[in-house]
Amino acid sequence: MRSPILFLVLSSALSAPVAADALRDAATETFKPLPSTIPALKENTVTPEKIALGKALFFDPRLSASGVFSCYSCHNLTTGGDDNMETSVGHGWQKGPRNAPTALNAVLNEAQFWDGRADDLAAQAKGPVQAGVEMANTPDNVVATLKSLPDYVTWFGASFPEAADPVSFDNMAKAIEAFEATLLTPAPFDAYLNGDDNALTAEAKAGLQLFMDKGCSSCHSGVNVGGHGYYPFGLIEKPGSEVLPEGDKGRFAVTETADDEYVFRAAPLRNIALTAPYFHSGKVWDLSVAVEIMAESQLGEELKPEETAQIVAFLDSLTGTMPEVTLPVLPAETAGTPRPTT
Ligand code: HEM
Ligand code: HEM
Repeated sequence: MRSPILFLVLSSALSAPVAADALRDAATETFKPLPSTIPALKENTVTPEKIALGKALFFDPRLSASGVFSCYSCHNLTTGGDDNMETSVGHGWQKGPRNAPTALNAVLNEAQFWDGRADDLAAQAKGPVQAGVEMANTPDNVVATLKSLPDYVTWFGASFPEAADPVSFDNMAKAIEAFEATLLTPAPFDAYLNGDDNALTAEAKAGLQLFMDKGCSSCHSGVNVGGHGYYPFGLIEKPGSEVLPEGDKGRFAVTETADDEYVFRAAPLRNIALTAPYFHSGKVWDLSVAVEIMAESQLGEELKPEETAQIVAFLDSLTGTMPEVTLPVLPAETAGTPRPTT
């Protein structure tokens, strides 16, 4: 006869790995690990020359009319790829209407901006350069600036060898897109999805389970743990106007369809622990509070404090290794370079 003690020991020894595998199986159905190589871009071949050019452009404040603001001003790669402000400050010290999302892993989003109004990073990059509250420049002035700097002319030529006129506003955006495609941050969660059981703490694993069981992952899923799919902010219960200001109707401004009022893209959650304050309004500084607001507004659930802590531990496991970016040396202005305006 089999000893009951031996049976117990055997069954618990067997059940632990089975349960761990079940969690990973469920997770790999819902999420995807970060790619280990630079993702292919639509109609934009990524080459080392283009990445280097895109990096110079990303850091160059001369893309702005004032010569003060670069992409890096609001997407600081040393602080999580954003500016950690409620809403960004741009041209003429104006405060913009929305919080800056991170540029890290943005290449993995299916559409860009809180309302998904740009299809990809190349389309996106043309926005801030021209936005009155961001860089307030014009395509013509940007091209005149770049053409006045011989190094840029050489770099554009090497990056777009087929082009008759390589220094163009479109090619600026493509080069920036190529650089941004390198900004990937592999995280402990990726190691876990790839089979390393020890990459997540027990608390983070409990949080991952809750994130899936409660339904967070019905909106925040895939490789960027969000960044695709549009949902009303306040699906079950609208948060107060403190967090969801009435003036910003989200995707409604893009589609002009009544159903899209207060609809936003489910935010990508990689590196979320680094990118406070939260939501498009930037009104919430504490990640635990952001999680509680989500549970109430999107799922109609009041989380227990330990559940919130576990979900936050899971979200912490999405903090990745930052890409190593060496500072580019930018070409000095020449007599022909348009001067900064205020
Ligand atoms: C959104 C990159 C300049 C503030 C974004 C996104 C990317 C990006 C990739 C979308 C991320 C996502 O949807 O998850 C760039 C590049 C820039 C640039 C390449 C330079 C050409 C700036 C500047 C500011 C700024 C100078 C601040 C003055 C913002 C804000 C959003 C945003 C507020 C969200 C806007 C919205 O959703 O309506 N940027 N950015 N960006 N960026 Fe930038
Ligand atoms: C935003 C977490 C459930 C849709 C966010 C943010 C966090 C988060 C931390 C802020 C992102 C940022 O500021 O960059 C969670 C958690 C959930 C959950 C922990 C489960 C408890 C859901 C569900 C949906 C959803 C079920 C869809 C029905 C959204 C949307 C945003 C967002 C649309 C953007 C809100 C905005 O415009 O400010 N989520 N979420 N979330 N989430 Fe969730």
